[in-house]
Amino acid sequence: TGMFTFDPGFLATSACESKITFIDGDEGQLYYRGYPIEQLAKESDYLETCYLLIYGELPTRAQREEFEHTVMKHTMVHDQLTRFFNGFRRDAHPMAMMVGVTGALSAFYQDSLDINNAEHRKVAIYRLISKIPTIAAMCYRYTQGLPFNYPKNDLGYTANFLHMMFATPCEPYEPNPVLVRALDRIFTLHADHEQNASTSTVRLAGSSGANPFACIAAGIACLWGPSHGGANEAVLKMLDEIGSVDNVPAFMEGVKAKTHKLMGFGHRVYKNMDPRAAIMRETCYEVLKELGLENDPKLKLAMALEKIALEDSYFIERKLYPNVDFYSGIVLTALGIPVSMFTVIFALARTVGWISHWNEMISDPGMKIGRPRQLYTGSPRRDYVPSGDR
Ligand code: CMC
Repeated sequence: TGMFTFDPGFLATSACESKITFIDGDEGQLYYRGYPIEQLAKESDYLETCYLLIYGELPTRAQREEFEHTVMKHTMVHDQLTRFFNGFRRDAHPMAMMVGVTGALSAFYQDSLDINNAEHRKVAIYRLISKIPTIAAMCYRYTQGLPFNYPKNDLGYTANFLHMMFATPCEPYEPNPVLVRALDRIFTLHADHEQNASTSTVRLAGSSGANPFACIAAGIACLWGPSHGGANEAVLKMLDEIGSVDNVPAFMEGVKAKTHKLMGFGHRVYKNMDPRAAIMRETCYEVLKELGLENDPKLKLAMALEKIALEDSYFIERKLYPNVDFYSGIVLTALGIPVSMFTVIFALARTVGWISHWNEMISDPGMKIGRPRQLYTGSPRRDYVPSGDR
C-alpha cells in the first residue's frame, strides 16, 4: 500500500519503548536494568534478579527478605488445580500441560485479574513467579506417574524446585549447593531477553487487556517452538542423532547443504558470542566436574561440534556462534532433568521477564492495542459463485 513499512519477522521494527533489558548484539553484551549479565549471574541470584527486572532497582536487604518471603508464601496451588492433571495423558509433552494449566490459573485467582488495579497486578506477578515452578514440577511428576510434592518453602526458590521435582517420601531431596547454584544460574541467564518472540507475544496478548495468566500462557505457547525455547531440547536430540564424534564431519556437510541446522548456534540479535553461552559453558564444566562426568560422551561430542563450527567459514561468514541453549541442555541433563522438561525450565525462568514486560506495558498510560498491518497478496475483488456453478 506504500503507507506501511513491510518488515516480515520484525527485522527492523521497534514495537515498543522499554527500560528493562538491553542487548548489544554486535558486542555480545546483555544488561538487565543496566547491570551486565556476567555480574548478575556470578554475584546475584535468580530471586534478586527477578526483583530487579520487575522493580528496576536491586533490593535492599529488607526488601529482598520481604520479596522472598512473599514469593515463597504463594508457592502452593489451589488443590482443585491439581485435578487438571488427571485429564492429561501420561505421555503428554510437559509443555502441553504447562500451556493449559498456566492459562487455567485465571479460573482460580480471580482476585488478581483486574489489570487496572495496581494491587491486583502486584499479586498476579507474585503468584506467577511463585506457582510456575510448582506447576512445572507437577508436569514432570505426572508424566513419571509420581505423586506431587508439596513445596518446601524454607529451601529457597531454586532448591525448592529441585525438591518438588525429585524428593520422594523415602528419600528427601538433599540440595547439592553446586547444582542448586548451576540451576539458579540457568534461571538468571534466561530471565529476560527483551522483545524476543514469546515476550512480544505476551505484550501483544496483554495489549488487548487480557489477564496476566492468559498472557503468560500465550508466551509459553510461543516459547515451545524449536527456533525459540525448544532449541535446548533440539540440541540434545541432535547430539543423540549424531551419536559420536566420528559422525561430526558428515553432519556438518548436511548443515552446509542446509538439510539441517546446527541447533544451539545462531541468534537473531547476537552476531558475536552470546554472553549467556560463555557463562553457561563455565557452569557446564563446574557441574560435570562436581558430578565426576568430565568424560561424558555427550559433552565431548558437543565440544567437538563447537570447535569445528567456530573454525568453519560457513559459520564465520554468517556470524553464527553458540547460543545459551547449546550448553544449558548438557547442564540440565547432568542435573537429572529429562529433555522433555528443558523448555519448561526455560518457561519457568522467563516468566519474570514476560510479566515485567507486561507490567511495563500496562503501566504506560499511552498503551495501544498491538495491531500489525499487512501487505495483501490475495485475489482482487470477485463475485460469489453458487456452489452448483463452480
Ligand atoms: N545452523 C546452520 N545454519 C544456520 C543456523 C544454524 N543454527 N542459524 C542460521 N543459519 C544460517 C541460515 O541458514 C542463513 O543462511 P543463508 O544466509 O545462507 O540463507 C544464515 O545463517 C542467517 O540465518 P537466519 O535464519 O536468517 O537468521 P535468523 O535471525 O532468522 O534466525 C535463529 C535466528 C536463532 C532462529 C537461527 O539461527 C536458528 O534457527 N538457530 C538454531 C535454533 C536455536 O539454537 N535457537 C535458539 C536461539 S537462542 C534461545 C532463544 O532466544 O530462544
